[in-house]
Amino acid sequence: MNDMQKEIVEGLKRFRLEKIEPLMEHDDFEGKFRMEIFNELGELGFTGMTASEEYGGLDLPCQDYSYALEEIAKSSVAYAVTISVSSMVQTIINTFGNKEQKEKYLPPLTSGQAIGAFALSESGAGSDAASLKTTAKKVEGGYILNGSKLWITSGGIAKTYVVMARTGGEGAKGVSAFIVEDGTEGFTYGKKEKKMGWNISPTRELLFENCFIPEENLLQKEGEGFKVAMSGLDKGRVAIGSISVGCAGRALDEAIKYSLERQQFKQAIFDFQGLQFMMADMACDVEAARLLVQAAAKSIDDGKSNQKLASMAKMRASDTAMKVTTDAVQILGGVGYTKEYPVERFMRDAKVLQIVEGTNQIQKVVISRQLKKEYGQ
Ligand code: CAA
Repeated sequence: MNDMQKEIVEGLKRFRLEKIEPLMEHDDFEGKFRMEIFNELGELGFTGMTASEEYGGLDLPCQDYSYALEEIAKSSVAYAVTISVSSMVQTIINTFGNKEQKEKYLPPLTSGQAIGAFALSESGAGSDAASLKTTAKKVEGGYILNGSKLWITSGGIAKTYVVMARTGGEGAKGVSAFIVEDGTEGFTYGKKEKKMGWNISPTRELLFENCFIPEENLLQKEGEGFKVAMSGLDKGRVAIGSISVGCAGRALDEAIKYSLERQQFKQAIFDFQGLQFMMADMACDVEAARLLVQAAAKSIDDGKSNQKLASMAKMRASDTAMKVTTDAVQILGGVGYTKEYPVERFMRDAKVLQIVEGTNQIQKVVISRQLKKEYGQ
């Protein structure tokens, strides 16, 4: 870590321990998202880490952003995810938006006054994202959206949505991307999901019924929407990997501390070789996941194509989070299964990291397609 990265991580550590950590047990149980926490993170610059300075962002390299998300996730996977999805929306607008779109939508997002959400999935289009059915029919001055989006992170609390909808024929080439504002007539919220984890971060259905979107809210040209979404996910998947490393790292920390204190058979349970080997494996897995995530982040910073590394980082880090949090609960034993310690929350939060932004099986599809290309096929 360089000096700048250390400074970011130290600042975030102070913030999370003082402002986030004490609320977590209660807020996870109640499913309570606090906008004031997000606003405060915004005042410190952490809600606009990757957007350009011209629009209020910090323009940080992806490697710094990755360390920052890892640190926030050590207290709250949910707040880290809210930031990462909002940042993905900023990256999309920053990269594909025109000047007017950037000027209008980026400053509230970078400052943390507004949250961004990404609306690709539908009930019939999860892994097969290109089969989405929400339509955007061209009319004078804009488009009429009809359809629904499912499992949308920050649905209902976000102000700015990037929505993928069909303007043309079947498949990826018929998809376009639109910026849709909360409060637009014809845009309402459906059911709020009851989930295993990520309880602080709302997941909600979006409903579009004859919803008029002005043509200036189209991102790029008609038919470019699938590429817009996929390239947003390249960085998004590195972000999910970073959050996974934070989630796993915190669980490991709890396991080591507890096992050093807990006495059984007249010794600290840490001193049993069975547990030592478990924790050695956990520490090795966390370190390896971080290195892979940082390699993927570096390739983005170097401007190289990164689909393969991004998918590898997301898959390996989230699998690590699931394994390490499960092992941490095991090491804490009975209390690990209770809400007296946070490891059960991290275990619940880890599960969906293997599912969001492309299941880990889809990451294998992306990785193997890239491997085939590398061999000229
Ligand atoms: N960057 C730029 N363009 C890309 C791209 C990328 N990463 N990936 C694909 N494309 C382009 C392709 O080049 C292709 O264009 P051409 O035909 O011009 O070459 C076009 O997009 C279609 O690509 P594919 O043929 O590969 O499309 P496919 O239908 O076979 O799907 C897939 C590929 C990898 C399976 C993709 O559908 C996928 O990633 N599915 C998973 C969906 C997903 O990740 N959903 C996440 C939901 S969002 C979320 O979870 C966020 C949250 O709220 C937390």
